[in-house]
Amino acid sequence: MTTSLTITQPDDWHLHLRDGALLAAVAPESAREFARALIMPNLSTPVITYKQAMEYKERIKSALPHGSDFEPLMTLYLTEKTDPNDIKRAYASGLVLSAKLYPAGATTNSLLGVQNFEKLQPVLECMADIGMPMCVHGEVANHDVDIFDRESVFIDKILDPIRQRLPSLKVVMEHITTTEGANYAKSDPGKLAATITTHHLMINRNNMLAGGIRPHYYCLPVPKREKHRLSLLEAATSGNPCYFLGTDSAPHVDKTKESSCGCAGIYTATNSIPCLAEVFDRANALNKLEGFTSIFGSNFYGLPTNKGKITLTKGLPVTFPHQIKTDDGPVTIFDPNIDIHWQVTS
Ligand code: NCD
Ligand code: ZN
Repeated sequence: MTTSLTITQPDDWHLHLRDGALLAAVAPESAREFARALIMPNLSTPVITYKQAMEYKERIKSALPHGSDFEPLMTLYLTEKTDPNDIKRAYASGLVLSAKLYPAGATTNSLLGVQNFEKLQPVLECMADIGMPMCVHGEVANHDVDIFDRESVFIDKILDPIRQRLPSLKVVMEHITTTEGANYAKSDPGKLAATITTHHLMINRNNMLAGGIRPHYYCLPVPKREKHRLSLLEAATSGNPCYFLGTDSAPHVDKTKESSCGCAGIYTATNSIPCLAEVFDRANALNKLEGFTSIFGSNFYGLPTNKGKITLTKGLPVTFPHQIKTDDGPVTIFDPNIDIHWQVTS
C-alpha cells in the first residue's frame, strides 16, 4: 500500500479569488499548496481589460503571505465589445494567459457576458492568430433548456460551431460535468482540453438534493447523475493530457448560500489536494495524480512545469476546518462526506 507520494507542485487552472475581505482570506489558502493558478475574472466589476487585470493581479499579490511565490495568472472576461488590440497587448505581456467566455446569465457575475456569439468572431480570430487560448463556461443560459442539459446543448449549438469556424483556436472547456463534455474534450488533442473540479469528482446530484437540499454542494455547472461523475473520474484518472485540474474553488459567504435564492459555488481551495489524492487512491490511480494536478495544464498553456515538489502522506482520517473566517463572514469549506486519509505534509 502506498502511504507517501511526492509529486510536482500542483497548479489550479480555474480559481476564484474574489476581492477585498474574501481575497484576503482565501488567497493564502491556495498559495499554501499550489504554485500557480488561473484567476477567474468574474468579479462584481468584471476584469475586462488588460489594465484591470494588472490592477487585480497587484491586489492578489498584496493578499499573499509575505515571501509567497504563488503566481496568479490572469484571464480576461470576454464581452461583445472586447478590443482585439487590448487582447493582443495583454497576451504579449505574458501575464494574461487566456480570455474567458461567459454566456450572459450562465453563472455568478456573468450578466456582462456574451449574448450574440457571432460578435466575438473578430476577437476570436485574433486569439487564434496569436495562439491565446479561450476558456469557456460551457453552458447555454436559455430558460427553455433544462439546467441538466445546458452543457451538452452548449457543445452542439455554440462551441462546436465556433470551433468549426476557427479550427486553430485553442479552447479549454472549464469544469466539465458530463459524459458528453468528457468525450468532446478529447476529440482534438492539443487544441481542445478540459478542466475538472475536485467536487465534480466527488459529488453527484443526489448528494446535493436527496434527503434535504444542501446549499454548500450547489454550484454551476450543477452536479449531474452518478454516471456522469463516473465519466469524469475515468477521464481524470485516464492519464489523457487533455484533462487537468481546475478546482473552481468559488467562495461565497455562508449567508449568501444559505438563503432562499442561494449563490452557486463551492469553496474547495483548503482541501482540494488531499481530496484528490483520496479520489485517485480509491480509483487505484495514484500514479495518474501528478499528471492531472501538476503537468498537463502547464503543458497545454505552453508554460514550464513547476520545479517544486509536495509530499502527500496517508494515515488516519484527517479533519479539515468546517469554515474559514473572513471579515465579511464565514465561508464553509467543501465537505467531501467520505474519509480523507491523505494530507500534504511538505
Ligand atoms: C462560480 C462563482 O461563484 O464565481 N460559481 C460556480 O458555481 N462555479 C462561477 C463559475 O465558475 O461558474
Ligand atoms: Zn468558476
